[in-house]
Amino acid sequence: MSMNILITGGAGFIGSHTVLELLKVGHTVICIDNGCNSYLDAKAEFPESIKRVHELTGKKVIFYSVDIRDKNALNQVFKKHKIDCVAHFAALKAVGESCRLPLQYYQNNITGTSVLLEVMSDNGVFNFVYSSSATVYGEPQFLPLTEDHPTGNCTNPYGKSKYFTEEILKDLCASDKRWNVISLRYFNPVGSHESGQIGEDPNGEPNNLMPYISQVAVGKLKVLKVFGNDYPTHDGTGVRDYIHIVDLAEGHLAALDKLKSGDVSGFVVYNLGTGCGYSVLDMVKNFSKSCGHDIPYEIAPRRPGDIASCYASTEKAEKELGWKAKKGLKEMCDDAWRWQKNNPNGFSGLQSDL
Ligand code: NAD
Ligand code: WQD
Repeated sequence: MSMNILITGGAGFIGSHTVLELLKVGHTVICIDNGCNSYLDAKAEFPESIKRVHELTGKKVIFYSVDIRDKNALNQVFKKHKIDCVAHFAALKAVGESCRLPLQYYQNNITGTSVLLEVMSDNGVFNFVYSSSATVYGEPQFLPLTEDHPTGNCTNPYGKSKYFTEEILKDLCASDKRWNVISLRYFNPVGSHESGQIGEDPNGEPNNLMPYISQVAVGKLKVLKVFGNDYPTHDGTGVRDYIHIVDLAEGHLAALDKLKSGDVSGFVVYNLGTGCGYSVLDMVKNFSKSCGHDIPYEIAPRRPGDIASCYASTEKAEKELGWKAKKGLKEMCDDAWRWQKNNPNGFSGLQSDL
């Protein structure tokens, strides 16, 4: 059934891939983004990522350059379009930056979400999909992580902003039975659309492993620092549950369908992961196969706040959403490499430092 879906942060990494999948199956997408972490040429009507989604799908979104904290502007969007569901991606997401700028993170991620929820309620829209994170689990007490694992033991303001927002959503659902909220806890999204036309485009030096490896592979960065090789894992390096971005995007389609079917009431959580854990060195080896050459790396001290291992239980999402990740590590690395090779400088295309 076709829906009118509002996507916040739709020009970003996960948002743009989800927009593509939504357009493919015939939904109408209204997309807002303030451009704080996406590339928009001053003269262009659409952010570059969205332009490419248009080329790939032959379909168009309705786009507004709006900040989620701007209540009036948001309200106008809701007045103009009859919205069935909102999928909320817009947030700041850099862990290190959040320790330097906690107020900016709380303002953007928590106040921003509260404003959005208020405007939704004012306009009678109560179906909401939230971009949460495995970071809300903190240091795992057991593995695989099931959705009922305790949350809140986060070590940085970014993680706390995700946890606090989940708590706000729980309170909201308890206060008003009209709300139907699915919180999706993403594990480690990587890769890109198989076309290599859209992908992850971090500002400056990447914080996350996969974009770092990609930039070493393409020659933009010299050497990967492996943060610790003395963890209790199969090779001593940190283990994570990497999930292909297209699988993750499809998880949102399943969540939106479930909301629309009337099958959800109140606050419900699902993990979006594969259930498999790979180490840093597993990722390096597999990426080398995809790009055809070695990735130079050196062992460095542990990164503060890191945990040894983290991977999802996928049972609940399989059973209740009918969704399961399909793509393996080879596709994650092949597709990440295709994007990086085709777009060494991301969406801006500037040939500054190659
Ligand atoms: P991203 O930075 O690529 O995309 C976020 C988009 O939101 C950007 O285009 C940015 O310009 C926009 N934005 C930010 N603040 C805004 C505001 N106030 N108003 C309007 N637009 C705004 O990030 P992403 O990786 O696509 O992440 C999307 C969501 O998923 C975030 O909520 C993030 O916390 C969550 N998440 C991401 C990961 C990950 O590893 N990428 C993991 C778990 C959860
Ligand atoms: C993965 C592994 C590192 C970089 C972070 C956020 C989390 C979520 C996803 C949004 C770890 C190691 C990394 C490098 C390395 N984001 N590593 N050298 O830490 O699992 O999660 O991103 O919600 O909130 O904390 O992902 O990609 O940063 O690290 O050795 O240059 O790679 O130590 O073991 P992480 P990551």
